[in-house]
Amino acid sequence: MSTFQAPKGTYDLIPPDSAKYLAVREAIAAPLKNSGYGYIETPGFENVELFSRGVGESTDIVSKEMYAFETKGGDKLALRPEGTASVLRAALEANLHKLGNLPVKLWYSGSYYRYERPQKGRYRHFSQVGAEAIGAEDPALDAELIILADQAYRSLGLSQFRILLNSLGDKECRPVYRDALQGFLRGLELDEDTRRRVEINPLRVLDDKRAVVQKQLVGAPLLRDYLCDACKAYHEEVRELLTGAGVAYQDDEKLVRGLDYYTRTTFEFVHDGLGSQSAVGGGGRYDGLSEMIGGPALPSVGWALGVDRTVLALEAEGIELELPATTSVFAVPLGEEARRVLFGLVTQLRRAGVATDFSYGGKGLKGAMKSANRSGARYALVAGERDLAEGVVQLKDMQSGEQSPVALDAVLDAVRERLA
Ligand code: HAM
Repeated sequence: MSTFQAPKGTYDLIPPDSAKYLAVREAIAAPLKNSGYGYIETPGFENVELFSRGVGESTDIVSKEMYAFETKGGDKLALRPEGTASVLRAALEANLHKLGNLPVKLWYSGSYYRYERPQKGRYRHFSQVGAEAIGAEDPALDAELIILADQAYRSLGLSQFRILLNSLGDKECRPVYRDALQGFLRGLELDEDTRRRVEINPLRVLDDKRAVVQKQLVGAPLLRDYLCDACKAYHEEVRELLTGAGVAYQDDEKLVRGLDYYTRTTFEFVHDGLGSQSAVGGGGRYDGLSEMIGGPALPSVGWALGVDRTVLALEAEGIELELPATTSVFAVPLGEEARRVLFGLVTQLRRAGVATDFSYGGKGLKGAMKSANRSGARYALVAGERDLAEGVVQLKDMQSGEQSPVALDAVLDAVRERLA
């Protein structure tokens, strides 16, 4: 071990496990690519104000968890704690919304940073795959995104997850509800921190997990009863579309998300095998965010799924992804001349698209065959001086152990034929 370790709350992705993470990212991205979403990549850091305005000054993410810093040049930046504000910023900056093709549908995959108390499933550096559909108010778009996330999880074999669904209302009805809720909460016996939260972000109090708080919340006004007719109709349409698509969900009036930009549809994917960090993904509509960061009115909706937690969910369900072996052919040279000849063959096979690896470091036959085994290769190419004198190499089937000589200039064809 070196003097250094990965920083607290982080971990390294290392083979062979790292292949699982790649497969999860690909599985989440596949339905998006198949549904008109284009890939976007934005910087790992942004102007800190983008997040304080976008995600919200009163959220934990901004007030406690952001890696904010000032550069030597005096710029105030922050490592991105989430993707939505960045993606919208980039879309506005590139004028994608002016190309006359709304909604702008984008997907992304990357690392995010939150200074949280680390525990299983909660890290300071984590990974999301996300999708944003910018510039359209259409319940079918909300439904599309939820259906695609469901499809992604199911394609991985996951089944023990639930979809929680809620509507947070809009700028007409939510303030009325907020007032009513505040009135109710002010009458409760709450600690000082929570009382402060009642004043700046009362909806978050509903999300308080502590029993002392929860038992006082019985009888709290419900947002459902305050939704305006337009929000009610919109939500009803989303629900019907989901039901029509055969996607089961649970209405959860208490679902409040940890980011301030949400309006109307909000949802979370929770997995029942993960303990306290059970949210594997979440999202919703954010009709006001564009204006909050200085853009035009652009009603939008999106989600992000946590890659780390999705991998934990696979483990919790005992799902082994079928990952094809990365190497098809492994070359084992015996002696100096064979090394040169086989290295040439390896290059030829690779250029022809056959996944091939080579025994480096002058290992003996036993050590080299061990490497061949570990690589998962289906075939080994073995050659010593006697083989070369005869102009052949031995092609060994690693499963059956059978071995046969193949002329040097026929190796590519022989390998292709067998792998086909
Ligand atoms: P979020 O709910 O904060 O939403 O994060 C989405 C997912 O990222 C979570 O459900 C979880 O799986 C994963 N995640 C969050 N924090 C951590 C952590 N500390 N460690 C491991 N995994 C974590 C958003 O980020 C929104 N931008 C989603 C969105 C997109 N809404 C609209 N568009």
